[in-house]
Amino acid sequence: MKRTHGGNIYEVAKKLRKDPSEILDFSASINPMAPPPGLEQNLFQKFPLARNYPDINNTELISLLAETHNCSTHQVMVANGSTEIIYLLPHALGIRSALIVSPSFSEYENALMLARCSVVLAQASESNEFQPTKDFISYYLEQMRVDAVLLANPNSPAGALLDEETLNWILFLCKSTGSLVVLDEVFVDFCESRSFKTLINSHRNLLIIRSMTKFYGLAGLRLGYALGSPMLISKLKKHQPPWSINTLAQYAGIYCLKQDGFREKTIKFVERERRRFAEKIEKTDGFNVYPGNANFLLVKISDHLPPASTLHEFLLNRGILIRDCSTFPGLGSHFFRIAVRKPDENDELVTHLHKFVSLI
Ligand SMILES: Cc1ncc(COP(=O)(O)O)c(C=O)c1O
Repeated sequence: MKRTHGGNIYEVAKKLRKDPSEILDFSASINPMAPPPGLEQNLFQKFPLARNYPDINNTELISLLAETHNCSTHQVMVANGSTEIIYLLPHALGIRSALIVSPSFSEYENALMLARCSVVLAQASESNEFQPTKDFISYYLEQMRVDAVLLANPNSPAGALLDEETLNWILFLCKSTGSLVVLDEVFVDFCESRSFKTLINSHRNLLIIRSMTKFYGLAGLRLGYALGSPMLISKLKKHQPPWSINTLAQYAGIYCLKQDGFREKTIKFVERERRRFAEKIEKTDGFNVYPGNANFLLVKISDHLPPASTLHEFLLNRGILIRDCSTFPGLGSHFFRIAVRKPDENDELVTHLHKFVSLI
């Protein structure tokens, strides 16, 4: 299985003989404001509890997530990153065939293939920022019956939102065939008002996957969750290994969910900085930016410039890591994705983009 992800600061640091903390990582999309202030001290105080087993039922964390998302505790499960949920899907929910709206997170395909599912990658159009339309979905679902459809809101790497009418259409078509809709909303915290989480009350075939790793900067602690009908949630829980979520991750989640001010500040900051960063990049000759709705930007390099792999190498030698998107099926060689970081770091990247272009 080929694993290509952003964020491998350890591998890069080793190659460059640097400390991982010295790498300016634009390849993994982690909130530049994270973690929330006070988290480190809170976890330091909780550390003695790490000698005991974690709460096997994740009681406090689940209660708080249910309160946060205005649903019942039976509609929530927590996991060791949302990736764990993706890997539970085929066995726990009996998925033998799936349609993945592509380009998308590579672990959907990996997890399903590992479980010997038949997988169709449905290539969404660049003109709709790689989100499906009603016609697109109808075209596929009229030809084949699948156990599940996987898609994301906002999607990655483009960061585009799914429109409500299309999602309702997908839910309608899937209901008629008894298929599940898995909606990845791991980046929706950056535009929470656009989440479709309330639909879990009216659609028992909808499972929403969310994460706390991106928005709260807990990627190394691992913390994700799913929202769905009590039936889907209990099936997923049955297949999950015990103590999947360690004590510090549980306490980190509990602490973070109480930080209302941090959430508001982040959303405002990221929205403003994403716009400013995108405008600066657009002013550099040869780069086209997708506007996005989360904390990352998809950039297309003009054909007259070298591919993203060359830019990746150029920046790597300067201690900067970007996500070359050529491994995303259908994107080709000239796309890269970058996280929105702090203004001075974003400006540094733009300076290097100028240098790159001036060398051609
Ligand atoms: C779209 C998408 N979904 C899910 C994940 C998994 O995130 P995590 O396992 O850290 O919750 C990622 C990670 O990069 C992602 O980009």
